[in-house]
Amino acid sequence: MKLSEKIQQTKEYLLSKIDQCPSIGLVLGSGLGILAEEIENPITIPYDVIPHFPASTVAGHKGQIVIGDLKGKRVIAMQGRFHYYEGHALEAVTYPIRVMKAIGVKQIIVTNAAGGINSTFKPGDLMIIQDHLNLTSQNPLVGPNEEEFGERFPDMSEAYSQKLIALTKEVAAKEKIKVVEGVYAGVIGPSYETPAEIKFLDRIGADAVGMSTVPEVIVARHSGLEVLGISCISNMAAGISEHSLTHDEVMETTEKIKAEFLQLVKEVIVVM
Ligand code: HPA
Repeated sequence: MKLSEKIQQTKEYLLSKIDQCPSIGLVLGSGLGILAEEIENPITIPYDVIPHFPASTVAGHKGQIVIGDLKGKRVIAMQGRFHYYEGHALEAVTYPIRVMKAIGVKQIIVTNAAGGINSTFKPGDLMIIQDHLNLTSQNPLVGPNEEEFGERFPDMSEAYSQKLIALTKEVAAKEKIKVVEGVYAGVIGPSYETPAEIKFLDRIGADAVGMSTVPEVIVARHSGLEVLGISCISNMAAGISEHSLTHDEVMETTEKIKAEFLQLVKEVIVVM
């Protein structure tokens, strides 16, 4: 079955469950799914009942879509995302982004937990993603291009919307939430990096590193969606951190920062 036919079936299924289409999509990373709990009048649909949706496997990810109202806007949130390291094809990893586009989403906020490389960062910082480095050696657009989705060679010179970045900085200043900005290096994982790899990433201009987001943003831009990216710096990266890295540390830091994260994203949604 062609990708466009699958998307059509998923779209029909979702539209049969809702009466109003969302305009904003939220992709919630490790430990950040809590935002979906604030959605009012929620319609919650587990991934495993949605036609053609893959199943999520990683700890800290719930695996469901929540559609409803947040700060007066109609949103669709993914509580838990699909990662390449789980064994999913990139078509599956990015499938929800295509579905969001199909049901009327115009702007997405992608969030993640990331390791801090920039030495001025601290665990618990919220980083607005200025740009990314695709270090996965993969691209979700490899293969025949379905023109109805987007062009063969999409421009990536403003992968992350400068307008949304400016809005987010204004909101952060107004709400007195500390934010930093930087370049997100997307790797495959699932092993964390070696100290030598982190030194390399630092030299090529990365401020943070993580195992998601890049494929989703490429597909979002291919689809013409406006993107805002926010990383929660959950730990300092290997060799910068004095201790070994664990997923528990990632989850603990995101737990600590979640109130500010929630406040920032919600206030940004108001002005989007
Ligand atoms: N490296 C890669 N991915 C991550 C990290 C890290 O240090 N922390 C959270 N996600």
